[in-house]
Amino acid sequence: MIFYFTGSGNSEYVANALSVALGDRCVFIPDVLEADVTYELADGERLGFVFPVYAWGVPELVAKFIANLSVKGAEYVYFVCTCGDDTGKTKEQMLDIARSRNWNVALGYAVQMPNTYVCLPGFDVDAPEVEKQKLSNAKVRMDEVILHLKNYDRGCFDTLPGAMAWFKSAVARPFFNKYLITAKPFHSQDNCIHCGRCEKECPMGNIKLSAVSSRPEWGERCVGCLRCYHLCPTNSIQYGTFTKGKGQYCYKKQ
Ligand SMILES: Cc1cc2nc3c(=O)[nH]c(=O)nc-3n(C[C@H](O)[C@H](O)[C@H](O)COP(=O)(O)O)c2cc1C
Repeated sequence: MIFYFTGSGNSEYVANALSVALGDRCVFIPDVLEADVTYELADGERLGFVFPVYAWGVPELVAKFIANLSVKGAEYVYFVCTCGDDTGKTKEQMLDIARSRNWNVALGYAVQMPNTYVCLPGFDVDAPEVEKQKLSNAKVRMDEVILHLKNYDRGCFDTLPGAMAWFKSAVARPFFNKYLITAKPFHSQDNCIHCGRCEKECPMGNIKLSAVSSRPEWGERCVGCLRCYHLCPTNSIQYGTFTKGKGQYCYKKQ
């Protein structure tokens, strides 16, 4: 069974690739947040978590979900995270969460994919040639992950921590989560065509088109995935002034 979260589709690509190769069920975390269910795994069924790295860690939504997941028969637990560059101490955070559940994590991999974070100066989507290269490398990396998972290998970790991992995860991350995961700076510009795609696509159901202006309004449940920004057909959605002139990216089946 694979539980996943995605904003722009990178992690969905990973979850789907695993699901097809392993024959395991795929569940989108926001779809089951309210469900009061105990998941029973069959003999030999793996329990996997797939998510994008946010601020050198596990997205809060995903971390809370895993910590509270009701599941029976979790014998083989793994995670695959996607990142634009590096993951800091994401592995250690996942191992801590797993320890609190008495799970022994067998495999943890990071797959570098096109970057989606654009909300601070100096951060933008990748140039087309970098995007292409990352997507092609990701396929090779997924083959490696799939082989390990098919063999039920244990002790396989390759999570691309990068430089200054401790500083990024322990110092920058809490600041980021406190001040930068907020929908307040989101707004639409006058080129909004009122198509409602942002409302339809927000995984948290956090966007409504205003009854007065027919333009998007954001509620309190934003997790910062930027799906609204990246999928807007006219690039009308902006995050304060920091996204001005920046690119959009969404995973498309290669
Ligand atoms: C809020 C936010 C924070 C991010 N933080 C990081 C990070 O710390 N390190 C990194 O390499 N990429 C970071 N990224 C980029 C994403 O992890 C990466 O592009 C990922 O593949 C996106 O996956 P998705 O398409 O499934 O949402 C961040 C993206 C967002 C939206």
